[in-house]
Amino acid sequence: MDIETLIGCATQARVNAYAPYSGFTVGAAIADEQGHVHIGCNVENAAYPQSQCAEATAIGAMIASGGQKISAIAIAGPESGAPCTPCGGCRQRIREFATPDTPIYICSGNKIIAEYTMADLLPDSFGPENLS
Ligand code: THU
Repeated sequence: MDIETLIGCATQARVNAYAPYSGFTVGAAIADEQGHVHIGCNVENAAYPQSQCAEATAIGAMIASGGQKISAIAIAGPESGAPCTPCGGCRQRIREFATPDTPIYICSGNKIIAEYTMADLLPDSFGPENLS
């Protein structure tokens, strides 16, 4: 899976975002351990707290399709303003299926504008290993 393709998938998923309340559209694309890509967008709700982030939608798509690990994730946010880094809850959601060195690409206008590892965004995190 090449990074350009992953970014393109995230950018394309953003087009379908349902964000009538915030107007802030986000797309995400995950490459799983088999190289398959799973996409998601944010899905808002009139009952605002029921809204779902793009990353959560993409993770659900990955699991439903049989993917088990996130080998890379691209997140595409608006073309202006601050980079759309994942919210705290989504950092934890990604972490469940990632490793400390999993790359997280933040994109805008089909380009990478910031790049992190999982450990950069959620250091000293709690995960499945803590329960074993
Ligand atoms: N949002 C995402 O989908 N992903 C992020 O990484 C940050 C925020 C969504 C949630 C909400 O629908 C809108 O962006 C504004 O917060």
